[in-house]
Amino acid sequence: MTTRIGIDAGGTLTKIAYWDEKKKMSLQSFPSSDFQAVKDWIDSNHSLASICLTGGRAEQLKSYLLSKDEIPYIVEFDATMNGVMYQMRQETLQSESAIIANIGTGTSIHLMEGNTHSRLGGTGIGGGTLLGLGMALTGKSNYEEIITLSKEGNRTSIDVLVSDIYKNNKLPINGSLTASNFGGVALKSGEDRSGADLLAGVQGIIGEVVASLCIQVADAHHVEDIIYIGSTLEENGLLQEIMESYTILKQKNPIFLEKHGYSGAIGALLENK
Ligand SMILES: Nc1ncnc2c1ncn2[C@@H]1O[C@H](COP(=O)(O)OP(=O)(O)OP(=O)(O)O)[C@@H](O)[C@H]1O
Ligand SMILES: [Mg+2]
Repeated sequence: MTTRIGIDAGGTLTKIAYWDEKKKMSLQSFPSSDFQAVKDWIDSNHSLASICLTGGRAEQLKSYLLSKDEIPYIVEFDATMNGVMYQMRQETLQSESAIIANIGTGTSIHLMEGNTHSRLGGTGIGGGTLLGLGMALTGKSNYEEIITLSKEGNRTSIDVLVSDIYKNNKLPINGSLTASNFGGVALKSGEDRSGADLLAGVQGIIGEVVASLCIQVADAHHVEDIIYIGSTLEENGLLQEIMESYTILKQKNPIFLEKHGYSGAIGALLENK
């Protein structure tokens, strides 16, 4: 029986952070479609009294847990920022001010300055898009399968690059930039496209849309560091690579944390004193 746990009930995944018997932080996740599994896990490992909740589906999970006592709740953005700051300290990373993009089911973008934070905006392009478009285009619904296959893909026949358009003309901007995500499907007829290519193209949309939004708000707020978090980065080297290279190309500093999707759960755990 451990003493405290933090739970981030998100649109897709419910993440849990807790201290184990050896006082080591441990992490666990469940699909948010299976709150019964979350309840079973809590019932066999923890007392309800020790929980702190966060995330958009916290209320739904709370009613599922049937607690007579009020379970503490912390606002998602506060929990996430606390979790990010904790992880930065653990990984000896430093940033005075940074843009934080949480690529969850959708994507939320924040400005962190010292100990304060504010939400700047977001986009509906996120991890849900990877699963949804991935399923629509290939029929595959398993996250691991989708990201593994996408790594074998090639985006040449899927996207249109600036250099594809400016053939034989002087380039006004870097030719290797994407001029049109998925535009190649319509414009490059006669080319074979595999499921892997389509999935790589979807990763391209997500990475480039989110990174370019972050780069623009970083410019507007005179910030160099961009911290990318969210479970969509979990085991997802291709997406990290797309975001990293684009961010560096635009002279910003991309930062990835080790426990990509767990900032909210860690923040809730730390709040739970
Ligand atoms: N085991 C998994 N099953 C399903 N999706 C996964 C898994 N691992 C990683 N993902 C990816 O992570 C995304 C969810 O990320 P995250 O857990 O950060 O979001 P969330 O907190 O559930 O959503 P939100 O914060 O928008 O409410 C999924 O859309 C998917 O792309
Ligand atoms: Mg979330």
